[in-house]
Amino acid sequence: MRIGVLTSGGDCPGLNAVIRSVVHRAVVDHGDEVIGFHDGWKGLLECDYRKLDLDSVGGILAQGGTILGSSRVQPAHLVDGVERARGHVAELGLDAIIPIGGEGTLKAANLLSEAGLPIVGVPKTIDNDIASTDVTFGFDTAVGVATEALDRLKTTAESHQRVLIVEVMGRHTGWIALHSGMAAGAHAIVVPERPFDIDELTARVGARFAAGKKFAIVVVAEGAKPRAGTMAFNEGGKDIYGHERFAGVAQQLAGELEKRLGKEARAVILGHVQRGGTPTAYDRVLATRFGWHAVEAAHRGEFGMLTALRGTDIVMVPLAEATQTLKTVPADRYTEAETVL
Ligand code: F6P
Repeated sequence: MRIGVLTSGGDCPGLNAVIRSVVHRAVVDHGDEVIGFHDGWKGLLECDYRKLDLDSVGGILAQGGTILGSSRVQPAHLVDGVERARGHVAELGLDAIIPIGGEGTLKAANLLSEAGLPIVGVPKTIDNDIASTDVTFGFDTAVGVATEALDRLKTTAESHQRVLIVEVMGRHTGWIALHSGMAAGAHAIVVPERPFDIDELTARVGARFAAGKKFAIVVVAEGAKPRAGTMAFNEGGKDIYGHERFAGVAQQLAGELEKRLGKEARAVILGHVQRGGTPTAYDRVLATRFGWHAVEAAHRGEFGMLTALRGTDIVMVPLAEATQTLKTVPADRYTEAETVL
């Protein structure tokens, strides 16, 4: 069998672990040939690739980023993208393509699959918002990075008796905010699923100071917004790929809370540090299992599917189903967290 693998969209700790696993399972166990397309779909569309053998994936398990590179170019962005992809798949004699990516990548994968290309998807995102899988690799690493940052920020907040508003990633969902906030014992968690009320937030943080505490930590997901009409708010705009370009919710909250509470407030934006660096053991294992199962699905001819974690099992889920909704933070998870804030 000849398999093409690519990584597309925002990078994520664990991508290299998937690539390594695909190569090991395919080359060693099945005697397949594997090629890696450079910079995501762009590599497939421009026929830019290299052969992947055991040597080329040696030592990459613990490496962050992706040895193949990534880009936000999706086939749908190019008018003749699907036909070009089809042409290159035929020219290269590919029996399967394994794209590893998030929401946008999986939608593109579904488009190509519906056009008849042999696709087996692997989900990734630090945001953990892909509905078909219980967990995505990268999430555990991102939560670990954010939790460590929050632990560190507590000591400086306390020294200066400040309110620190810490912005974590999460365009549409607050999984990183919820988990890191719970793990670090934050004093308020603000998520996109639940537009915040600035009066309530001020009261919550104010009550802490009134009780004699000297500092407060608020974790906010980058995509969080105020309840309509409760606060002047700049939502930002869109980048050239149609992704939200946020105007900085932490900065805006810091200004508002400082004014309302009469306490010094600072915004800290963790940004891409959450995506960089070595994956945790959990993410390496999940990524490795996804890669292994993607190769198996290709050998069974199970195309148009996506690897997913359900409980402790890896199962295959239709790509079409996987790209329909996002996995948001359920209200009861937020309620649980509120008790311990
Ligand atoms: O989808 C993952 C994610 O980390 C989002 O939380 C974030 O909004 C986005 O990627 C930022 O991506 P970039 O700045 O690389 O386009």
